[in-house]
Amino acid sequence: MTQEQEALFAGEGSTEKAGFVIRAVDVRKVYRMGESETHALRGASLDVHRGEYLSIMGPSGSGKTTFFNMIGGLDKPTSGKVYIDQVDIAQLDPFELAWLRCRKVGYVFQTFNLIQVMTCLENVMLPMAFAGLDDEEAREKAIGILERVGLKERALHKPAEMSGGQQQRVAIARSLANSPDIILADEPTGNLDLKTGEEIINLFDRLRKELGVTIISATHDLKMLRASDRIVWIEDGRITRVSTPEEMNIAVSEVH
Ligand SMILES: Nc1ncnc2c1ncn2[C@@H]1O[C@H](COP(=O)(O)OP(=O)(O)O)[C@@H](O)[C@H]1O
Ligand SMILES: [Mg+2]
Repeated sequence: MTQEQEALFAGEGSTEKAGFVIRAVDVRKVYRMGESETHALRGASLDVHRGEYLSIMGPSGSGKTTFFNMIGGLDKPTSGKVYIDQVDIAQLDPFELAWLRCRKVGYVFQTFNLIQVMTCLENVMLPMAFAGLDDEEAREKAIGILERVGLKERALHKPAEMSGGQQQRVAIARSLANSPDIILADEPTGNLDLKTGEEIINLFDRLRKELGVTIISATHDLKMLRASDRIVWIEDGRITRVSTPEEMNIAVSEVH
């Protein structure tokens, strides 16, 4: 990537640096399989503020993962626009898109998706290698991040030796490897019990405060909404409502 292109993303000199980190404008996605069509997103528009904690709430099949794939640059909308830091990501060539996925966005999944044959430390170092960091630098940085998520002493363990909650914390550490602006977490607590799930949510909340990273987390569990600034409700491919946890006080009070 050229310096010019990097500057495009750096947001330096941009008057909107404190503004929206992601904008989705009338995003539609149709999956076609033979004769059948699934309208997974039917025109979703959303502005995400820099540094906010946004929860995407909706039942299974409502389009949460599809929306994540669009705003994370993992898949292209059928129509509509996605901007990351004011850049229309449809305009990027494959190399630029790969750069964006590597540096700008950290991904966290329901099933952790750690590489089983690697230690925690190696899992966290892997995206740094993709970003061109040398081994020594990467090791030092990865240890620092593991410390931040409370797992420094587990650095040399493999995923199978750890609990689900610990594995998800390693996955979160990995998502932070290249100091992203945005973390996209798709049902990060879906495979965890309530208490462990709440620990993960609290960790996201702390990372947002400490690092200023924007958190976007999908869930279908009302108990996982407490830390959110805003809750975006998706039903059948449409954003039907945007609310705050305070407006949802019945569900939120359950976890206090
Ligand atoms: N790759 C795909 N091909 C075909 N249909 C898909 C694909 N991914 C998702 N869908 C369909 O799109 C709709 C939304 O799915 P998804 O975004 O995974 O919802 P959620 O994450 O909220 O469960 C569902 O009807 C699902 O079956
Ligand atoms: Mg999903």
